Amino acid sequence: MFARVNFLLKVEVAKAKAELIKSISSLRRNGKSIGFVPTMGALHQGHLSLIEKCLEDNDLVVVSIFVNPTQFDNAEDLDKYPRTLAQDITLLKTLSSFKIMVYAPSVEDIYGGTVDAVNYDFDGLEYEMEGAFRMGHFDGVGTIVKRLFEIVKPDFAYFGEKDFQQLQIIKKLVKKHEIPVKVIGCPIFRAANGLAMSSRNSRLKPDYKKEAPFIYKILTTAKLKFGTKSANKVTEWVIKQFEAHKLLNLEYFTIADVETLKPIKRKSKKKQYRAFIAVYADDVRLIDNIALN
Ligand code: PAJ
Repeated sequence: MFARVNFLLKVEVAKAKAELIKSISSLRRNGKSIGFVPTMGALHQGHLSLIEKCLEDNDLVVVSIFVNPTQFDNAEDLDKYPRTLAQDITLLKTLSSFKIMVYAPSVEDIYGGTVDAVNYDFDGLEYEMEGAFRMGHFDGVGTIVKRLFEIVKPDFAYFGEKDFQQLQIIKKLVKKHEIPVKVIGCPIFRAANGLAMSSRNSRLKPDYKKEAPFIYKILTTAKLKFGTKSANKVTEWVIKQFEAHKLLNLEYFTIADVETLKPIKRKSKKKQYRAFIAVYADDVRLIDNIALN
């Protein structure tokens, strides 16, 4: 019992970067490895799967919880994004570890007076899919992640394949700016019904929550079809399934090369492909993807 109480105190929370830097500097000096998991909070099992991997690999884990305003193209989405810091901290305390540092800054601590995104060139990765439908989104993501890397200075940083385009963009950011961190991609964590875990799932109304696993069902069937059919035929089939669906609205379905994220032209055995999807369940936007070969 005492041991548990003890380790419950071991999730430290820093609300300002000076506090965080001070807490981790001695560990860094002692050559301990620092792992980092950036999040926007409303933590769920998907986030925890990244944090657990990070705990396995490192001496200290930093989890940032910050709803980053510059990556939202829609004021209402930013406004409605769930903010559950106390609950998030309680959840982190259930992990059996002595080494989690939460960084939950204010907008001021990160951005100072000007809440602006830097304009990045990610060699075209930023214009596909999420970039095409959410203007400026990846400039906002690049801005916050680069800033967080500069503050935390992690050895390893963990990102989910749930946001596969984001993962590829962060790898590009690190390479282009020669940031000394190793980016690790982690598999998508799904509910038993196949729905990819997401902070936005908590906003789904009951009818939509019931229907949302349809997205993964379509992805797994699309994967099977891709074995024998052309990408166009698979895409047409997916569009038809959503046209017939009463509640879910398809925004895009794209089969793309994992390296360039450009839509597939002709199948090549040498390339790796993924199917990417964005769907509206009422006003909640859900994204998912699946490896095809
Ligand atoms: P957020 O949506 O909170 O996600 C934080 C990390 O958790 C991301 O790397 C995301 O891909 C991963 N993640 C979310 N759901 C997952 C799931 N079901 N399975 C596996 N990994 C999952 O992504 C962001 O925040 C922000 O854009 C951020 C990188 C923090 C920058 O603001």
